[in-house]
Order: sequence, then C-alpha cells, then structure tokens
Amino acid sequence: MNKNLMKYILLIVGIFSFANGRADEGKQLFDRTCAACHTIGKGRLVGPDLSGISQKRTKEWLVSFIKSSTSVIKSGDTDAVAIFKEYNSLMMPDVDYSEAQIVSILNYISSDRSSGGQQQAVTADILSGTTLENVKVGLLLFSGRHPFSNGGPACAGCHKVKDERIFSSGTLAKDLTESYNIMGSAGMAAVIKSPPFPVMNTAYTQHSLSEEEVINLTAYLKTVSEERYYQRPTDFSTTFAFFGLVVFATIFLSTVLLYYKRKKFPVNREILDRPSKVIN
Ligand code: HEC
Ligand code: HEC
Repeated sequence: MNKNLMKYILLIVGIFSFANGRADEGKQLFDRTCAACHTIGKGRLVGPDLSGISQKRTKEWLVSFIKSSTSVIKSGDTDAVAIFKEYNSLMMPDVDYSEAQIVSILNYISSDRSSGGQQQAVTADILSGTTLENVKVGLLLFSGRHPFSNGGPACAGCHKVKDERIFSSGTLAKDLTESYNIMGSAGMAAVIKSPPFPVMNTAYTQHSLSEEEVINLTAYLKTVSEERYYQRPTDFSTTFAFFGLVVFATIFLSTVLLYYKRKKFPVNREILDRPSKVIN
C-alpha cells in the first residue's frame, strides 16, 4: 500500500518536472524570439496578446503559423489573412524551430499565469519625459554621425527613412518611415532592443544598444513617422536627374557654340584652298 503511494508521488513529481522542463525551454525560446512582439496577458504589443491562444486556434494551425506565418497567409487561410490585415500587414518573421520546440513555446504560453491583469506594465509609454534632445540624438545615432556606445553599425546602413537630413542610407532592409505608426513605442523599442530578424539581430549581438540609445532611436522614429507627410522624400533620383539635365544642356550648348565658331573655318578654308587648286 505504502509502496504504491510512493510510486504515485514519484510519478506525479516526475510529470511535473517534465512539464516544467518543457515549459522552461519554451520560456527561453519565447523570451528570445517572441517577446519583442508578443505578451502573454499584458496586452497588445507589435502582435496580439497570446494568452489563451490555444483555445482560440488549433494546435496544427498554431504550429504552421508560427513556423512560417508568411506561407500560411499566402495560402489564403482566412484566419491568418484576417489577423494579418488587423495588424496592418505587418509580417511576423518565420522561425526555423522544430515542431517540438514550437510546441514547447505553446506549452509555455498556456502555462504562464503570472501576468494577468497588469496591462499597464507594458503599455506605459517609454517615451514619456523625452524631449527634442532625444529626437536629435536619435537622428545622429540612426544616421551614424554618432557612434553607438558598443560600436554597432548605424541603422542607416540597412534602413531608409523619409528624412532629408539623412543623405545616404541602405536599402537592404525595410523603409522605417511608417514603422512607428504601426508598432507604437513599446513595440518599436522591443524590436530595436532584441531584434527578431536574423540579419539585424546578428549585427547587434556583439554590440548591444544601451537603454538610452533604444529610447533615443524610438523617439526619433516616432518623429519621422509623425512628420512623414511633410518631408520631401530622401529619394535623390530627381536631384540626379536635374543635375543630369544641367550637364546635358551645358554640353549641348557648348557643342552648338563650338560648331558655329568652327563652321567659319571650313568655309574659309574652302575659299583659301580654291586659288591653290587653280595654281596646281
Ligand atoms: C516582429 C514581430 C513579431 C515576432 C518576433 C513574432 N510575432 Fe507573432 N505575430 C506578429 C504579428 C504582427 C501578428 C499578427 C498577424 C500578422 O500580422 O502576421 C502575429 C501573430 C501571431 C499569432 C497568431 C495570433 C492569433 O490571434 O491568431 C501567433 C500564435 C503568434 N504570432 C505567435 C508567435 C510566436 C510563438 C513567436 C515567436 C516564435 C512570434 N509570434 C514572434 C508579430 C510578431
Ligand atoms: C544589418 C542590417 C540592419 C541594421 C544595421 C539594422 N537593421 Fe533593422 N532590420 C533589418 C532587417 C533585415 C529587418 C527585417 C525587415 C526587413 O526585411 O526589412 C529589420 C527590421 C527592423 C524593424 C521592423 C520594421 C517593420 O516595420 O517591420 C525596425 C523597427 C528596425 N529594423 C529598426 C532598426 C534600427 C533602429 C536600427 C539601428 C539601431 C536597425 N534596425 C539596424 C536589418 C537591419
């Protein structure tokens, strides 16, 4: 009788620690790749609050959506398309996790009950108390005129924004002009702090940004987003076209001038040549 009881206790303890182990792996993966955009019970961030998601969707749907939301959306799945539209067509990056890893993330999401009812914790605006100074420093950091304290690459190396004060920028990654409008300050700061995009993440793993740098950049990108209707585009192709025209006109005019100047020469020459021909 006692032996049996022991067995049951061991079994229960075993199941608990097993479940905990899975949830732990899930928590690590979630914190690393999902927390920049999702909370569990703390409200909407870049993407929807994921608490109770297992009741809302089937496990198969969740696994394939998390693995590659882009292909599920492309396949025309109605739920996926609806949520994608609801979130302003913001792409959730694909991950190359195994099904087991994704299930462990889902287990963690359903096991996490620590966070209900604290919406304020995340939605409190990190930009409250920032001034124009933050925006200015943010611009300098973004464009690379101020180096980052840990030496990471300038954002403008990969991203473009509509801001005529930034003269050269990369086009490797998305134009960030409207990103703030879509993500809000919490989402923007979360994405900058721990980028869920492999290319960007690699660029900053050895060069993490300070809390203050994240705030300055967020403040700057907010201003960019708010002023996007008033800025002339940073696209310099029109300027180049204009210079091209000026250069063309100059060359054309000087050719014409030279032509008229020179035209006399062959005419004179012809006249000059005539008598010599006669003599010959
Ligand atoms: C860059 C931000 C971002 C990251 C990182 C991200 N997501 Fe998302 N997620 C979104 C957005 C935005 C949506 C809304 C649908 C869409 O736009 O594709 C979404 C939707 C979802 C949905 C569907 C919710 C619903 O109501 O149907 C699930 C589930 C989900 N994400 C889980 C995850 C998990 C798990 C991870 C980590 C492996 C993750 N997401 C990482 C932005 C993100
Ligand atoms: C090495 C290139 C690289 C650098 C440097 C870089 N990023 Fe990114 N970033 C990316 C890539 C790639 C994405 C994924 C979206 C895409 O495909 O364009 C991205 C996405 C983002 C997004 C999400 C955009 C959206 O609307 O979905 C934000 C915000 C962002 N980066 C901000 C920054 C900031 C701020 C910096 C400077 C601290 C920075 N990035 C530096 C490559 C880079």
